[in-house]
Amino acid sequence: MKAAAPSRRDRIRAQLADLKMPGALEALDEVLTRVDGGGVTASEAIEQLLGAQITLRNNRRLEAAMRSSRLPAIKTLEDFDFSFQPSIKREQIDSLHELGFLERKENVIFLGPPGVGKTHLAISLAIAAAQSGRRVYYGALADLITSLEEAKAAGRLGHRLKILTYPSLLVIDEIGYLPVSQTGAMLFFQLINRRYERASTVLTSNKGFEEWGQILGDEVMAAALIDRLLHHCHIVNIRGNSYRMRKHTDLSKILHSPPAEPSPPTPKGTRARAKEKTTI
Ligand SMILES: Nc1ncnc2c1ncn2[C@@H]1O[C@H](COP(=O)(O)OP(=O)(O)OP(=O)(O)O)[C@@H](O)[C@H]1O
Ligand SMILES: [Mg+2]
Repeated sequence: MKAAAPSRRDRIRAQLADLKMPGALEALDEVLTRVDGGGVTASEAIEQLLGAQITLRNNRRLEAAMRSSRLPAIKTLEDFDFSFQPSIKREQIDSLHELGFLERKENVIFLGPPGVGKTHLAISLAIAAAQSGRRVYYGALADLITSLEEAKAAGRLGHRLKILTYPSLLVIDEIGYLPVSQTGAMLFFQLINRRYERASTVLTSNKGFEEWGQILGDEVMAAALIDRLLHHCHIVNIRGNSYRMRKHTDLSKILHSPPAEPSPPTPKGTRARAKEKTTI
């Protein structure tokens, strides 16, 4: 007896498998049932199938990025409660998540006291970048410096700097919490110098720029570093309460009195171009 000819549904299934589109393949039956039931039009069905494939691809990219980028957690824009932090301009954060700054090799700096969401937003930018297929890498400043110091001691500094220059987006978190040695500051400068105008860096700090000289133990180097960072840069200055302390408002008020606000970017010795072109 002759085998029955494959149905159209079977042929679509085979085509999606051939095209390696498992997300669309998995969604196919459900989408076709909706079409048969008159719930969606043909164009809506195509949109839903392709959407299912894109979602799967983005999730896979994210999983791969989580393995290679050392992101400490998954934090997304959707999880961020803007009503808790009214000093943040939502349009600015939404626009950054469209990732044009990566194309333009611009930097982003989140400034503000503890717990206001600096790391959260830096990670959510990195996740958006990873989902769009970009290579991302995350490190707290102290850890990045340690890795550079170790590479230097092993005679592999050039190689390590190359690796850290490669990602389209590098997050350098927690500038200002731990002291940096003189060699560490020099290595940090070298890293920023390498990435300058080549790839975007997203930084977070609890300290205003005028304190970076003290953090790095060298006012001149800090000014040169800030100069490069601010040349093409978006600054998000967050003023508000710690989200971690939201259930302890009285204690939070005591700890943040007077409020630890970072001051605006007026580093000594910064060339005029930095001020002019900074996007705030
Ligand atoms: N507006 C917010 N909506 C939802 N979650 C938030 C918000 N702000 C912060 N969080 C959460 O609160 C915690 C602390 O935030 P985060 O680590 O981003 O703070 P931070 O500004 O980096 O602080 P620190 O300077 O101490 O590193 C995280 O779990 C983060 O996801
Ligand atoms: Mg943080």
